[in-house]
Amino acid sequence: MRIGKLAKLMKERNFDGALISPSSNLYYITGLRIHEAGERPTILAVSADGDFHLLAPSLYENVVKDFPVTFWRDGENPYEKLSAIMKELGINNGKILIENTMRADWLIEINRTVRMNPYPLSLVVRELRMRKDREEIRLMEKAAKVVDDLFEELLSWDLIGMTERELALKMEFWIRERSDGISFEPIVASGENGANPHHEPGDRKLRKGDMVILDYGARWKGYCSDITRTIALGRPNEGLVEIYEIVKEAQERAFWAVREGVKAKEIDGTARRVIEEAGYGKYFTHRTGHGLGLDVHEEPYIGPDGEVTLENGMTFTIEPGIYVPGLGGVRIEDDVVVEGRGRRLTKATRELIIL
Ligand code: CO
Ligand code: CO
Repeated sequence: MRIGKLAKLMKERNFDGALISPSSNLYYITGLRIHEAGERPTILAVSADGDFHLLAPSLYENVVKDFPVTFWRDGENPYEKLSAIMKELGINNGKILIENTMRADWLIEINRTVRMNPYPLSLVVRELRMRKDREEIRLMEKAAKVVDDLFEELLSWDLIGMTERELALKMEFWIRERSDGISFEPIVASGENGANPHHEPGDRKLRKGDMVILDYGARWKGYCSDITRTIALGRPNEGLVEIYEIVKEAQERAFWAVREGVKAKEIDGTARRVIEEAGYGKYFTHRTGHGLGLDVHEEPYIGPDGEVTLENGMTFTIEPGIYVPGLGGVRIEDDVVVEGRGRRLTKATRELIIL
């Protein structure tokens, strides 16, 4: 439980309390795994003194145990109960942090019931979540191992003739059998589809001469991995081979630029410079990476505007890419932790593999 840490930060920043709905933040703060509350209000109230109480639908009576909780049944008004909880904790007015992903209909009802001045919870929780402790990094290593293993495995699959959709499904199945599940739906982008960084796998069949972008991730006890490798099925177009080497160089240089004390935007700048100097600047259309942890996209973001100064324990991706309309694309992505210098969590080979 990290409620004490949260309360301490709230006090330092003059916040009176927090309302946290089911989310990665609720899991991070309490260890409670409430997946789908749906429309039924489920809210943890926390005071800056570190007192806390959960409001939950009675559906969870057999799930939430050994935790201060008030259950409400269908037909009752949960917001009146929440108001009573907040009064009890002394946070029924004042500056209240609200979970960023809380449903708008809940927030609107809460606002009608209590007087408060809402702020996004991320303002405070980001300070805690950005730096991972040893146990969190261990879980991320586990998640990374699953995607490394899949890469090695899929090189032996009969890829020619398979549709993008079939390959994505087969990858998903493989991940689900060996982990808590996927961290996002796998991307398989073949041939000219590779020019779209977030291509949705479709009915195009993989064929000889294709470059194929594979971007996928696994979860281990909530923690995510996120890897991208680009492979060739038979000898690809020479232009794409050249692009591959540029992206690999950009990814490598950005990785070596990682160290405690540099700003996130310097990592982005390092990758971007390599691609710009090779003349492909306008085809690198996204930031260089994103923080990774309980969410597959979180802080710190590694972009041209990344003002966060890197600290030990921060984890993020480095994933430069080049996307040329009509031709295709290349992206190479690894997960990295700052430990003085950078250390890669994903380790699958980055050499161009021609099957
Ligand atoms: Co990715
Ligand atoms: Co990514």
